[in-house]
Amino acid sequence: PSRYAVIGQPVAHSLSPRIHPQFAAQFGLALQYEAMDVAPADLAARIAQLHTDGYAGLNVTLPHKAAVAALCESVSERAALAGAVNCLSRRDSGWIGDNTDGEGLVRDLLRLGIAIAGRRVLIVGAGGAARGIIGPLLAAAPSELVVSSRNPWKPEELAERFKAQGALTPRTHLALKGDRYDLIINATSAGHEGAMPRLPSNLLAEGGACYDLSYGPAHAPFAAWAQSQRGVAVVADGLGMLVEQAAVSFDIWLGHRPDTDPVLAALRR
Ligand code: ATR
Repeated sequence: PSRYAVIGQPVAHSLSPRIHPQFAAQFGLALQYEAMDVAPADLAARIAQLHTDGYAGLNVTLPHKAAVAALCESVSERAALAGAVNCLSRRDSGWIGDNTDGEGLVRDLLRLGIAIAGRRVLIVGAGGAARGIIGPLLAAAPSELVVSSRNPWKPEELAERFKAQGALTPRTHLALKGDRYDLIINATSAGHEGAMPRLPSNLLAEGGACYDLSYGPAHAPFAAWAQSQRGVAVVADGLGMLVEQAAVSFDIWLGHRPDTDPVLAALRR
């Protein structure tokens, strides 16, 4: 069978080794998929060794998503803009890098019936996770896309970085006061510390949606905040995005688009 792996540190908690075999089974394919703990100092050597060993594809997770880009023979435009690579595909001469996170988010929003086109969208948080989703969100034509952080510098940097892709409005959290959004996306890592950024009240429009890039215990603080917002219609965690970005990787590697619903349902059981 073709060999695949996810590399990260820590990686033991990764759900990818549970997702890809289920996708493969949908098409009667045999696929071996492992989780590999790789230290940052060993990244270059491991990537080269896995290529020599004949691996067909790799997923890349924290903390390697930025560093691995420099080890690829080439990277896609969307990965270059995201400044992060999460999917490597084998060529005889080396690895091709891509980023499937943003497309995964847009596909999950579509699956959930959450519209982007013509809607006012807020991304809370301006780090690497935000950078990975901005390009695909701009391509989905929101009426407004705003990114906010505790200080103005990171949002301003992102607005500059993506200016050829569309208008991205930089804000501090405090400066959001008085705004109304149809969709609020949590792209902070605060949930991993059990925290939620302090935001002005009444940011959500009637019937609005709240989407968290985090899932599992890290989703709890944003979920509690979202449930308390007046007019909220949907609160979603990022598990669907995880499965969707995996499906995009699978399609890149094997040319098949898996059915994500049964795989997501199995992960939730
Ligand atoms: P990642 O690369 O995963 O996106 P990051 O860059 O460390 O992670 O952080 C992403 C965002 O989480 C940052 O924008 C950060 O907010 P600031 O830009 O305001 O610093 C936000 N963040 C992390 N911990 C936070 C906390 N405890 N409260 C509020 N925001 C937090």
